[in-house]
Amino acid sequence: MKKIILVVGARPNFMKIAPLMHELKLHKQFEAVLVHTGQHYDNQMSGRFFEELNIPAPNINLEVGSASHAQQTALIMMGFEKVCLDEKPDFVLVVGDVNSTAACTLVAAKLNIKTIHYEAGLRSGDRTMPEEINRLVTDAITDIFFTTSVDADENLYKEGVSNDKVFMVGNLMIDTLEANLTKASGSLQKFSLLNLTGNIDVKDLASTGNGVMTFHRPSNVDNKEELERIVNIWGAISNKIPLVFPIHPRTYKNIQQFGLLDKINTFPNLYLIEPLGYLEFIHLVSKAKFALTDSGGIQEETTHLNIPCLTVRPNTERPVTVWEGSNKLIKIEDIETEVEIILAGNGKKGNNPKYWDGKAAQRIVAILNNL
Ligand code: UD1
Repeated sequence: MKKIILVVGARPNFMKIAPLMHELKLHKQFEAVLVHTGQHYDNQMSGRFFEELNIPAPNINLEVGSASHAQQTALIMMGFEKVCLDEKPDFVLVVGDVNSTAACTLVAAKLNIKTIHYEAGLRSGDRTMPEEINRLVTDAITDIFFTTSVDADENLYKEGVSNDKVFMVGNLMIDTLEANLTKASGSLQKFSLLNLTGNIDVKDLASTGNGVMTFHRPSNVDNKEELERIVNIWGAISNKIPLVFPIHPRTYKNIQQFGLLDKINTFPNLYLIEPLGYLEFIHLVSKAKFALTDSGGIQEETTHLNIPCLTVRPNTERPVTVWEGSNKLIKIEDIETEVEIILAGNGKKGNNPKYWDGKAAQRIVAILNNL
């Protein structure tokens, strides 16, 4: 029996862990222990994803909550060290690039526990992003590297990782997308609006055509001038096509703090709603004319669905979505023109990258079996 601790912390981790938990259950030689660091804790950012994706309740929740990067990382490390000493796992598997990913890898590596990073090797080259620091730290000490695309393999080789430790396994997010897309249809209903009074029937909107938007990167939303600039563009676009915006708590807090909500209230076609659950969100994206985002995961989901994605960032750690998929990196000042191109029917289309086929969890567990 091999004991493996799987770590989750923040919203984008849950759809990566779900298929792995399901697959591990089919292989009795593994004992899986699920640890939630509590980096995200609200039902809408965490709890409901466990229900929708049938992830078993975590065996242990460190309940660290929100704090500065240093505090949050330290709290995760202190809690996770105790877990590792009590559980004595054979492996610790982390996913993605959030603070929980780096913190738990550091703890496990120092306890000489074999560490495994799923989504290894992604690099934006932009060290102003906290996620890039987390990726570099994690991959500097990880033992086994599971990657989602060939560029990630190349990045790791360039950094000196030997190729017997690198396994291109495909994309767990796409496992989850494939498993849930049919179930997701019909999940959209009426949502109360955060900006305007009343509610919207998103199903009606989806049938007539709308854009879906997400923004939460500190570089876009933590600075008042930058956020105001972006808000003005949301207004301009929403004059051309209804925009549904399930808003991340960081962004909503900043909009309120910077006094921008009054302005947003003057845009009749911009629909601000609470963060959606997974099923609602993928259904909304799958029906949208385009996604306008600064998220990492949505670049991948839209590529698989072949829906034009406009990513408002100077770089991406997921370049395969650009060279192969339907994603475009754009500047704030180009958003309106790019939306017009899409509305004229000339949005970018692409291909599905290798192994983004719903079988990544199977590949991973087959490899774990031989470690
Ligand atoms: C984190 C990840 C980011 C990921 C994002 C997805 C890091 C460094 N960042 O950023 O990579 O893309 O999650 O959401 O790990 N909050 C709530 N409820 C929650 C969690 C947070 O209201 O359940 C609020 C808190 O006020 C917090 C703010 O949102 O201060 C930001 O949360 P935080 O976890 O610090 O960073 P994210 O922006 O979510």
